[in-house]
Amino acid sequence: MTPRVFSKLLGLFVLLLVFETAVMEFVFRRFVEQSAGETLHRLGLEALWSGLIALAVALPLAAWVAARITDRLGKVVSFARKIAGGDLEARLDAYGDDELATMEAALNQTAQRLGQDFAEIESRRQELVTMLDSMQEAVIAVTREGLVRWSNAVMQQFAATQIVPGRPLVHSVRDPEVLACVRAAQERGEVRFGRASSLVHGRVFEINAAPLPSGGALVVLHDVTGIEAAERSRRDFIANVSHELRTPLTSIQGYVETLLEDPDPRPETTREFLGVIQKNAVRMNRLTEDLLALASVESPDYKIARQAIRADEMVQDAIESLGGIVVDSEVELESSGAPDALVMADPDAMNQVFGNLIENSLKYAKSGKRIRVGARQHQNEVEFTVEDFGPGIASEHLYRIFERFYRVDKARSRDSGGTGLGLAIVKHIVQAHGGRIWAESELGSGAQFHFTLPLAKPMAGPGH
Ligand SMILES: Nc1ncnc2c1ncn2[C@@H]1O[C@H](COP(=O)(O)OP(=O)(O)OP(=O)(O)O)[C@@H](O)[C@H]1O
Ligand SMILES: [Mg+2]
Repeated sequence: MTPRVFSKLLGLFVLLLVFETAVMEFVFRRFVEQSAGETLHRLGLEALWSGLIALAVALPLAAWVAARITDRLGKVVSFARKIAGGDLEARLDAYGDDELATMEAALNQTAQRLGQDFAEIESRRQELVTMLDSMQEAVIAVTREGLVRWSNAVMQQFAATQIVPGRPLVHSVRDPEVLACVRAAQERGEVRFGRASSLVHGRVFEINAAPLPSGGALVVLHDVTGIEAAERSRRDFIANVSHELRTPLTSIQGYVETLLEDPDPRPETTREFLGVIQKNAVRMNRLTEDLLALASVESPDYKIARQAIRADEMVQDAIESLGGIVVDSEVELESSGAPDALVMADPDAMNQVFGNLIENSLKYAKSGKRIRVGARQHQNEVEFTVEDFGPGIASEHLYRIFERFYRVDKARSRDSGGTGLGLAIVKHIVQAHGGRIWAESELGSGAQFHFTLPLAKPMAGPGH
C-alpha cells in the first residue's frame, strides 16, 4: 500500500473518531441532563451500538477506497510500461476529479503528444529516405568508429557486399580512395573530394566526404563515367581533327615553300607540285565538309523531313543516282530485290546514307567486282543492305568502324581520301530516323552493311 493510500485511510479513521466523540458527547449531555441510573445504562448501550455501527460502515468503506486506488495505480503502472515499450496508442480511463484523475488525464495528453511527434518524425524520415533513394548519387553515412549508419538504394548497387548498418564501412566499400576521403573528413573536420575508379569496374565516381557533427562522415558518390567519356571523346576528336588537318597542310606548306625557293622551277615540276597541293587542298576541303556534316547530324537541332517512300523505289533511286561513280570502275552496282513497303525517310538523308555505303564498297572492295543493294521487310521495319564481295572487315574492327575517325587501315584509307567520318555520319542519320545500323563480314568474303527504317504504317500485331 502506497503512503498516499495509507494517509487517505488514516484520514478516514480520524473522521470516524470525530464521529464517535460527537456521539459520546451527545450521550454524556443526556446523562448529565437526566442523571438517572437506568438512563446511564441505556445510554451506555446506545454508545456501544453507535460505535459498532460506525465501525461496520467505516471498515468496508476504507477497504473499498483502498482497493479502488490500488487498482487505478496498477493501471497507471501498466500504462507507463506500454508507453516505454513503444505503444503510444495506450490510454488511461480518467474518471472523476480527484488528483489521480488529473494525473491520468495529464499522462494521456503526454502520450497523445508523443504519438503525434513520433508520427511527424517518422513521416519526415520516410520523406528523407524516399528523397535519398530517388537520388542518382550514392549516399552513405558512417559513425565516428567507421561503422555504417545508413545508406541509400543506389549505394547498395555499388557496394561489394550487402551494406548492413552497424557493420564497418570497409566490409562493403573497398575503394581505397573512398576510405581515405572518409578518414580525412573525420580527422580534419572538413569536406574532402576525391575520385574513385575501383568501386565498380569500368566506372569513375567523384567522391564528396563531409564531416558530421557526431564525429562521423557523410559520403556522396557521383557517377562521372559518362562525363569523363564525353570529355575524353571531345579531346580525342580535337586531336584527330588537328592531326587530319595538319597532314595535308604540312604537305601544302612544304611544296609551296619549295616552289617559292626555286627561282627558276621547271614547268613539269611546278605542275607536279601544284597537283600535289591541289590534292591536299581537296582532301582538306573534304574533311571540313565531313566535319560540318557530322556536326549537323550530331546536333540536337538536326531535323529530318520524313515522308512515306516505297522501299523498292529507294533502292532503285540509290542505284541510279550512284551509278555514275561506278561507271569507270569495272564494278557492277545491282539490286538484290526490295519490297514495295512504305517506309518513313528523308530522301536527301537517305541519298547521303546510300552514297557513303556504296562509296565505301567501291573504295575498299573494288576487288569484289559487285555491289548489291537490296531490302527485306520485317514486322514493323524494312532492313536495307549494301553488300560487297571484297576483302571484308576483321571482327575486331567491326564494332568500331562507326566511331568517328576510325579506320581499319589508316594509311590505305588516307590514300583513298578517307577520313573515317563517313560511317559515323551514316549512323547518326539512321538513328535520327529511329533505325539501327550494323555491319557483318567474314574476312575475305566481303562485307554487308545493314540498316533499318520504320514502316510508314506499322503492322497491327503478330500474325497480320
Ligand atoms: N565495304 C568495306 N569494306 C572494307 N572495309 C570497309 C568498308 N567500309 C568501310 N570500311 C572500313 O571502315 C572504315 C571507316 O569507314 P568510313 O566510311 O567511316 O571512313 P572512310 O571511308 O575511311 O572515310 P570517309 O568516309 O570519311 O571518307 C574505313 O576506313 C574502312 O577501313
Ligand atoms: Mg567512307
